[in-house]
Amino acid sequence: FNVPEAKNEPVKSYAPGSPERAEVKKMLEELRSQEIELPMVIGGKDVYTDRKVRMAPPHDLKHTLGHYNQGDSSHVEMAIDAALEAREEWANMSWQHRASIFLKAADLISGPYRARINAATMLGQSKNVYQAEIEAACELSDFLRFGVKAMTDIYKMQPSSVRGVWNYNEFRPLEGFIFALTPFNFTAIAGNLPAAPAMMGNVVVWKPSKTAVYSAGVVMEVFREAGVPDGVINLVYASGPVVADVVLTHSDFAGIHFTGSTEVFQGIWKTIGDNIYKYKTYPRIVGETGGKDYIFADNTVKTPELVTAMIRGAYEYQGQKCSAASRVYIPKSIWPDVKKKLGEDLKTVKMGPSEDFTNFVNAVIDEASFDKLKGYIDRARDDNDAEVLFGGKCDKSEGYFIEPTVIQAKKPDYVTMREELFGPVLTIYVYEDDKMDETLDILDKTSMYGLTGAIFSQNRYNIEKMTKRLTNTAGNFYINDKPTGAIVGQQPFGGARGSGTNDKAGTLFNLLRWTSIRSIKESL
Ligand code: ALA
Repeated sequence: FNVPEAKNEPVKSYAPGSPERAEVKKMLEELRSQEIELPMVIGGKDVYTDRKVRMAPPHDLKHTLGHYNQGDSSHVEMAIDAALEAREEWANMSWQHRASIFLKAADLISGPYRARINAATMLGQSKNVYQAEIEAACELSDFLRFGVKAMTDIYKMQPSSVRGVWNYNEFRPLEGFIFALTPFNFTAIAGNLPAAPAMMGNVVVWKPSKTAVYSAGVVMEVFREAGVPDGVINLVYASGPVVADVVLTHSDFAGIHFTGSTEVFQGIWKTIGDNIYKYKTYPRIVGETGGKDYIFADNTVKTPELVTAMIRGAYEYQGQKCSAASRVYIPKSIWPDVKKKLGEDLKTVKMGPSEDFTNFVNAVIDEASFDKLKGYIDRARDDNDAEVLFGGKCDKSEGYFIEPTVIQAKKPDYVTMREELFGPVLTIYVYEDDKMDETLDILDKTSMYGLTGAIFSQNRYNIEKMTKRLTNTAGNFYINDKPTGAIVGQQPFGGARGSGTNDKAGTLFNLLRWTSIRSIKESL
């Protein structure tokens, strides 16, 4: 069959009085009124252990959402065995059947599960309803629908034949199992990382972030209801090093689909190198890691647009996006204007629990993140090379709240202009108008990462110059827009340098990493 044309799931408004607002509110109440116990799912079975780990909303630490069952290395081994047992049947299932399963999963997420997946993301990861809707409900459905479309396009990629000689490509899954190691910050990414290899006929061991177990449990429920067979995706809750130790030394390890920190990814890459002789095949390594994403403005910009991009780019989801704007370069001539507007607009930004629909900024994910961010802010307060211009309050009495903060750096290589903070802290460097070229060079030299970047200008010569000069600094480059919010099917997402392997999630480029092609020639 021809799969339907992939279309982006329309984002609902959640305006006061809307049915979707009432529905998600009801779901929040329902989830708050119960304590759920989340099992691991291995070989299609719910697995409980005697180690129950409490889950709490990052914005309301006193409330217990429930507990998850933490496993150990024996559970990881069980998950690998279950995956390998399911492998042959799944690999041989026709792509049409696999397509039906993941299209159904997309319809469940955007339909009957929409309120639950959004509410779980709001409670478990402290994401406001708009941010949850954009990614948990819509982006995850998009990943699945665009993924299925790309999968069918791949299967149609066939070589030419001549009379008497028939050639064709057989797209086989990789020989072994895939390890999906997923982050807390996007429920969509957490769902897509196991789904993409599975679509291509692979079996998966999935370990979600320990701070996003709550929504991962809902996504797993969707996969099961959609018909993903037992053992094809196995959900394991165990500590990262415990899982990695078993998975990365296993002879059937065939690839990793990763989103997380640069340090962890580099450590995994090294472990894979150290174990290379053990594997049956060269593992595919696909990873998206950190970012130190920028906005670079010249002196022709429109101040309101620039300030809106700074606020949305830096503080949506508390800046906990690998794509978040975290450093801004502004020419001196427009800085007083920008500073004034930034100060005024920040006064209108409300911070508080994600369940109150008027709060734009909510809590950061955990105590480690809170302490790290507070450390950078305190350091900037004490440092001669920096000044805290706006915000800076940190309070963890109820939840992990960090006020949207603006630091002005006096040097372009100040620590918060270089290091990824992963929180609601934006650093600004003001450059002399006649030093634009030098400042672009500095931006390039201080970009160890290469994920996203945005330039703002109304001057076409400058736009072209900046676009060329900054070629290697961003896998996703925005002209006159914030550097976040890539849409599946519109801005394929991924970056290079320290930011990952740039395999563009949700596209054919990514799905091609999960297949090993047998090229068959038949002569008559
Ligand atoms: N894909 C996400 C964004 O573009 C990370 O913001």
